[in-house]
Amino acid sequence: PMLLGLVAVLAYLLGSVPFGVVITRAMGLGDLRSIGSGNIGATNVLRTGNKGAALATLILDAAKGGIAVLIARYAVGEDAAQLAAAAAFLGHLFPVWLGFKGGKGVATFLGTLLALAWPVGLAACATWAVSAAIWRISSLAALMAAALSGLWCFVLNEGHMLLLVLILTVLIYIKHWPNLQRLKAGTEPKIGAKK
Ligand code: G3P
Repeated sequence: PMLLGLVAVLAYLLGSVPFGVVITRAMGLGDLRSIGSGNIGATNVLRTGNKGAALATLILDAAKGGIAVLIARYAVGEDAAQLAAAAAFLGHLFPVWLGFKGGKGVATFLGTLLALAWPVGLAACATWAVSAAIWRISSLAALMAAALSGLWCFVLNEGHMLLLVLILTVLIYIKHWPNLQRLKAGTEPKIGAKK
């Protein structure tokens, strides 16, 4: 239990590093919280117009989730890996450094899935990519990827992580509440659009 507590705390701290905020500030692209949706994720970094910064944010926000899982699995085992996934994800959503006002968790979710069970992670990434190719709306692609992720666990015989995936999916939907409102109103911007 002590060890699991340590895993959870370290994974939370890793997940709470807001790479989007750090990268945009370091590159002099402004304050991400006052750009576009105000979110700290790669989608909003792209609204600064800097594709490299957005790509770096996507990769690092995904990697922190994946790395938390891999370290926990290596050091403790599979249950710890799932705990680390949840803790890193919660770190991204509720980072202590930003007064617990964090991101929507999509990149970190995909990163943890890839590390927990790469076929599920790949299927979720593919769901995002296909949805994005069709609708060109990041939040809609994320909501599709999250909604189908539980199904992929089932289909790909990774039922052991179904409960975790469903909980994270619910949190992604809660965090996308403003996006859901904009989607309903038809005002959600396309990927890369400035407004
Ligand atoms: O990953 C978050 C994405 O789904 C939506 O981002 O900035 O459009 O709210 P944003």
